[in-house]
Amino acid sequence: MMDLRLRSWMFVPGHSHKMVAKVPTLGADAIILDLQDAVPPDEKDQARGLVSRTLGGDTGKARIFVRINDLDTGGGERDLANVVKPGLDGVMLPLTVEPEQLWALDDALGRAEQATGLKLGSIVVVPQLESPRGILNALELAEGPRVVALAFGGEDYALSLGTERTQAGTELFFARAMMANAASAAGVQAVDTVYRDFRDDEGLAEECTAVRTLGMTGKLAIHPAQLDVINRAFAPTEAEIERAREIVAAFDQAGGGVVTVDGLMVDAPVVERARRVLETAEGKE
Ligand code: COA
Ligand code: MG
Repeated sequence: MMDLRLRSWMFVPGHSHKMVAKVPTLGADAIILDLQDAVPPDEKDQARGLVSRTLGGDTGKARIFVRINDLDTGGGERDLANVVKPGLDGVMLPLTVEPEQLWALDDALGRAEQATGLKLGSIVVVPQLESPRGILNALELAEGPRVVALAFGGEDYALSLGTERTQAGTELFFARAMMANAASAAGVQAVDTVYRDFRDDEGLAEECTAVRTLGMTGKLAIHPAQLDVINRAFAPTEAEIERAREIVAAFDQAGGGVVTVDGLMVDAPVVERARRVLETAEGKE
């Protein structure tokens, strides 16, 4: 699953029968069944049961993640006891700050895998970085055990930075760039924070383009209406694919070196980027 590039990561509140019932038909690349902030404290146990039953059934084509609570204080161990079973692909750990949290999760997952007869190390991990310190530790977290992606939590981040959220998103610029950079350096995916105005397709599309430019590879979603926009924004466009074909063809025909395409110099990194566009395009459905 590490090779698979996941564009849209959809949160589904783990206590909502109505929303969880939609899991098999949502067009997300990844589903994150949430046991943390979307679930009221007195409904956590009911949510654990519902999520556990859901994992045992048909969940469609998406990769299935569960966002657990804090391992020390929030009932994270109880979450794992319910959800580590066939059908689960990965765990999202919110509010990750230090690599030690990932080592503790790795241990807990190892024990749970053993108890349920799953292959050791088969459940992957996505830490959610939601604080200035978490962002500063991004590279170490990206290199942590089982980690396949970093996810950004923009609301909690802005809260702990002590700043306001703005439409322009200036307050998140450094964190996004840092996170995407760290993820790239470690060879994992970088998943941007949620866009809360779920009726604003245009604003969402603009934000996707902006964060993709920074190196993000996908985005969290909260509402089904966001999935098409995100899936499209993080896949190459027809024009990009056509352009990539031209570049690769011109380069291959010249037998390497430097060539000119449409009046612009094309050298090795440009060709490599074009090849990646074509690979991504072939990988998509
Ligand atoms: N997962 C699955 N289904 C969802 C969904 C989600 N995250 N969000 C909405 N839907 C469903 C609704 O149940 C509704 O179904 P229906 O047509 O059968 O009635 C349909 O999509 C349209 O939803 P809509 O009526 O436009 O929105 P809503 O008022 O029901 O829900 C939210 C709005 C924000 C409460 C809801 O989208 C949500 O809870 N999102 C997830 C929030 C979350 O997980 N946050 C934590 C991480 S930041
Ligand atoms: Mg959060």
